[in-house]
Amino acid sequence: MTPAEEIAFLSAEIRRHDRLYYEADAPEIDDAAYDGLMRRLRTLEAAHPELASPDSPTRRVSGAAAEGFRKSRHLAPMLSLDNAFGPADFTEFTASIRRFLRLGEEEALDFVAEPKIDGLSVNLLYEGGRFVKGATRGDGAEGEDVTENLLTLADLPRDLPGEVPERIEIRGEVFMDRADFAAFRAQQQKAAEEREARRERGEKLGPAVPVPVNPRNAAAGSLRQLDPQVTAQRPLRLFAYAMGAASAVPVDTHWQWLEWLSAKGFRVNPLSARVTDPEAFQARIAAERPALAYEIDGVVYKLDRLDWQARLGFVGRAPRWAIAWKFPAERATTTLRRIEIQVGRTGALTPRAVMDPVAVGGVTVTHATLHNEDEVSRLDVREGDRVTIQRAGDVIPQVVEALPPLHGARAAPWVPPATCPACGAHAARVNGEVVRRCTGGLTCPAQATERLKHFVSRRAMDIEGLGEERILLLHDKGWLGAPADIFRLPAREAELRTLEGWGELSIRNLFRAIAARRTVPLERFLFALGIRRIGEQNAKLLARHYGTVERWRAAMLAARTVGSEAREELGGIAGIGPAIATEVVEFIAEPHNLRALDDLLGFVAPEPAQVAAGGTFAGKALVFTGTLETMSRAEAEAKAEAAGGRIAKSVSARTDFVVVGADAGSKAAKAAALGVAVLTEGEFLQRLAT
Ligand code: IVH
Repeated sequence: MTPAEEIAFLSAEIRRHDRLYYEADAPEIDDAAYDGLMRRLRTLEAAHPELASPDSPTRRVSGAAAEGFRKSRHLAPMLSLDNAFGPADFTEFTASIRRFLRLGEEEALDFVAEPKIDGLSVNLLYEGGRFVKGATRGDGAEGEDVTENLLTLADLPRDLPGEVPERIEIRGEVFMDRADFAAFRAQQQKAAEEREARRERGEKLGPAVPVPVNPRNAAAGSLRQLDPQVTAQRPLRLFAYAMGAASAVPVDTHWQWLEWLSAKGFRVNPLSARVTDPEAFQARIAAERPALAYEIDGVVYKLDRLDWQARLGFVGRAPRWAIAWKFPAERATTTLRRIEIQVGRTGALTPRAVMDPVAVGGVTVTHATLHNEDEVSRLDVREGDRVTIQRAGDVIPQVVEALPPLHGARAAPWVPPATCPACGAHAARVNGEVVRRCTGGLTCPAQATERLKHFVSRRAMDIEGLGEERILLLHDKGWLGAPADIFRLPAREAELRTLEGWGELSIRNLFRAIAARRTVPLERFLFALGIRRIGEQNAKLLARHYGTVERWRAAMLAARTVGSEAREELGGIAGIGPAIATEVVEFIAEPHNLRALDDLLGFVAPEPAQVAAGGTFAGKALVFTGTLETMSRAEAEAKAEAAGGRIAKSVSARTDFVVVGADAGSKAAKAAALGVAVLTEGEFLQRLAT
């Protein structure tokens, strides 16, 4: 079992035992066995924080079945930050800002630096100066409404004095100090031990007491308590550091914003500073880090001028105007037990190190990625070796070095498998790729189930109630092969009811979740298909470009011909390019995939892509060529997109406007030949202004 599988399995088992204990009053296992399941789940989640789901039994209030929180949509999305790992990354960051804004070297870039605390971010909504709602980040668009719990924080001002915009979102980090965490953890540990002693005396007890692994985990668990009185007893703190949506912006720079927050009663990290020499600041904070009251994993640098921030905007999920410069990853050494192979949804075979448990960066780790077989040879890592691993932030730990065992001889070099461990099909590296792939395609059970897992996942179709364990089971039964089969499950209600742990309520909830997904935004649908290299960002590009699933499908079929206009158009979409175009076309050219897609479209009606409503260029395709005078190409493209347009790199009959700068070459000529409208920079800006 992979850790993901084991986590899903354990979570389902624990939930089943909870039901048996609390609802049916008919426990099947004793407390020790129950605690064993919990312990194992907690260990796995600690080693793989990226796999720990927010509704895991380990994060739940003891005794109550987690019914969860109300969802709360943020007025402005809560984004993440790109990372820098050294001065070179930071230099590239500032250079890209200069390029985008077309600033000369003589123009100073002022940054505000703030320590990056490892807690959880929250969105605080104030209306008329009064705190009305608070939510966790969630998926960035909507989180969980934890208003009642936030109200128990002493650091949270309920009313803001003086003049305040009518409506304003304030963002900050909820965290626990190191010392508070240590005391809290000791207290939980003691409670867990006492409970154990009572259990030994034969008492019937509820679920185990959760013992948090790190301050972040403790803060998140404490804020997500269903009972605010429990949160009130937890030593949670809050630093404010960012603005979300606001009906008016009371300041011109980020620094003034921090001052404004302070004046309104928020706590702002006192180490925040306006800096001219980030490298020196980074070194200073790194030196102070061990003595700080809380854990930090880097420093966030934000461009001070808000007008520049606004011009720079976002790319993907991160702003162009801020970066998190992380401290070097923490390292630890342990013994490599074996190298195992994971099969991904596109058949990629990924070697993974299974190691003796080791603490690194605040969590215990038992698995690390080895990326691919070239990496295994490069490191010459062998079973039984001592391995150094590193872990930075939330990324998956990786092996960085291998040393021979202290005693005894080294094992033979690792040999990549010639066949897929899941289906036995031939596994090969083709076209000089670094990745070895299972050739079993749709017949490989691992690929099929990985695809299904991806299809239902939160960022894809977001079908709740179809976790890994259930997918594996239904796949085994032969009821779930392709995504469309999910929509056929309601026809199997009687059979599902015969399965252990599938109560009437959970089946009804599952059917409701499935029915709700018969319409989804086109970009989600395209992402859910699991086409290689079509992540969320590229799915969005395709959705915006083609608008409807029918147009997309027809265009992909036409694009199978190399050199066709449809193929040129696909490869010409800014951000897609010829290599990704080939992946999409190969997907569609595979008859199984086309059949699976059409089968799915019998159930799901993807909603046409949203174009910025009422934008000057809503739904229009633009191509930029030549050198612009007043702004960089990147900024012009971002402006066109903000006005609803989509950017293409090459001119075709489907192009609506070609914007020409100085020295425009063949694209301008092609536009003329095809009769596409040509705009000068001035005309472009004029249209934007209207
Ligand atoms: S600003 C668009 N400032 O880091 C700006 N984030 O990777 C986005 N964080 O989810 C956030 N300290 O939880 C910002 N001073 C700081 C921060 C900070 C910690 C966290 C926050 C966010 C994540 C982004």
